[in-house]
Amino acid sequence: MKNPYNPIGAKIVKIEKISSINKLFTIKIKDEKTRNAFKFRHGQFFILSVPGFGEAPFGFCSSPAIKETFQVSVDKRGSLTSKLFELKVGTDVGIRGPYGNGFNRKKIKSRDLVLVAGGCGLSPLRTIIQDANLNPKNFQNIQVFYGCRNSKLLAFKSDYKKWSKNIEMNLTVDTPDKAWKNSVGVVTNLLTSETIKSDSVAILVGPPVMYKFVIQKLVELGLSNEDIYISLERRMHCGIGVCQHCALVGGKYICTDGPLFSYAEIKDTPEGI
Ligand SMILES: Cc1cc2nc3c(=O)[nH]c(=O)nc-3n(C[C@H](O)[C@H](O)[C@H](O)COP(=O)(O)OP(=O)(O)OC[C@H]3O[C@@H](n4cnc5c(N)ncnc54)[C@H](O)[C@@H]3O)c2cc1C
Ligand code: FES
Repeated sequence: MKNPYNPIGAKIVKIEKISSINKLFTIKIKDEKTRNAFKFRHGQFFILSVPGFGEAPFGFCSSPAIKETFQVSVDKRGSLTSKLFELKVGTDVGIRGPYGNGFNRKKIKSRDLVLVAGGCGLSPLRTIIQDANLNPKNFQNIQVFYGCRNSKLLAFKSDYKKWSKNIEMNLTVDTPDKAWKNSVGVVTNLLTSETIKSDSVAILVGPPVMYKFVIQKLVELGLSNEDIYISLERRMHCGIGVCQHCALVGGKYICTDGPLFSYAEIKDTPEGI
């Protein structure tokens, strides 16, 4: 019987520094047949392992339309991510997945999208943004609202000009420096009846503190609970609904039923958000 915890052999083929605390790793599955069969959807995640150091879940952050490699953006937090920051191009790693439900494909392509990101939350949304830049005809109107504590922490800064050709980029920081020319304050301030259409679909990825206020604002602006999606993050171990680490009250698992939930699904779940 196939062991679901056996990682697929892969290699780091590129490493880029994205912000003061974040690096972007480009990963290639070594075996050609396995690589060609490996497919993921927007918003899914995988488990990355470094032999001898352990494993952790990460969201895909490149377009699923790019087949040969995929990318993951990693924030340095603790033991595994610190080890990842020391690795060099050419190092072998392991991957398991793809896991999770991912974003609703039909809604993503057929509806206007409001993508709200805080901090490192921009990276799973980059799968959509990059895809919309590669295939603009497959998408409707996309608005990105992205907030960080300061401009040094903004991820993928060098891409904004390119993205802005097909996507509306709205940026804000809590603490501006002298060169900052965009908005100042929390991301919620950017969401108004002038900027947001009430029949849009919203996807929120960021710290839990952001969710409460952004959801409240979007509901006030007329978006339905079924059209507001939140990506939930918890400590995970198995990624396949076995270990109970990510179980929510009510019997849902973030790793298999999520990580993406509509507000309608999650609003009455204790400690869901
Ligand atoms: C579905 C999913 C997708 C994710 N996608 C990404 C991604 O794209 N990029 C990224 O950088 N990180 C992502 N994470 C978080 C990532 O898994 C953790 O940062 C990683 O496990 C930390 O491992 P570590 O060994 O470096 O830290 P540890 O040594 O295990 O912990 C260091 C500190 O970070 C805290 N911490 C660890 N994991 C989490 C967590 N999941 N939530 C909150 N606090 C945590 C610990 O409590 C501790 O304070 C994702 C998590 C999930 C569940
Ligand atoms: S991570 Fe084990 S049940 Fe979800």
